Amino acid sequence: MIKPEIVPAAQLDLPAIRDLTRRAYGENVPMGFRFVAVRQTMNGLLRDWRQGILWKALLDGALAGTIRLTPRPQGWLYVNRLCVDPPLQGRGLGARLMAFAEGEARRRGLLSVRLDTAMGFAPLVDWYRRQGYVIVSAAKYTDVPHFSVILEKRI
Ligand SMILES: CC(C)(COP(=O)(O)OP(=O)(O)OC[C@H]1O[C@@H](n2cnc3c(N)ncnc32)[C@H](O)[C@@H]1OP(=O)(O)O)[C@@H](O)C(=O)NCCC(=O)NCCS
Repeated sequence: MIKPEIVPAAQLDLPAIRDLTRRAYGENVPMGFRFVAVRQTMNGLLRDWRQGILWKALLDGALAGTIRLTPRPQGWLYVNRLCVDPPLQGRGLGARLMAFAEGEARRRGLLSVRLDTAMGFAPLVDWYRRQGYVIVSAAKYTDVPHFSVILEKRI
């Protein structure tokens, strides 16, 4: 099993995180899913970094993935921008990042982990379901062309 090191991102990591995020989310575009993250900007990342919500996953010391964890007043830890560098996908790192989010939610005394994704992206929705997430609602956000589902795992 892979053993990533998951730690807060440093300011110096931001250009590499932007490139990785665009690369990973870019792979969804030909499948018809244009998430906001495909347009990830340095300004957005700088804001996230200043808020302390940006994390990086390292494999053998090198950047391999990233995740944004935002606590919400409702008691949720909201996951966004989960991605793994395409050549490193399929080895369990995405699942390790989700398990990390759940551990953080538990450590912070929160109620659940929440995220949203594209309603029609069946392999991704099924992947979250296999990790214990259930669909709690649906939405049409204005910044993406697709309908979204909101998934939750109680901690
Ligand atoms: C989703 C993502 C983080 C998973 O990372 P990963 O390291 O490959 O994840 P794992 O190795 O733990 O698991 C791979 C799983 O992804 C599923 N999966 C995710 N996206 C998929 C896709 N587009 N096509 C096929 N399978 C996909 C596979 O079914 C596989 O499931 P299994 O292990 O139960 O067989 C990665 O595919 C990614 O970065 N995608 C682009 C960004 C993205 O879509 N992020 C989520 C937005 S809500």
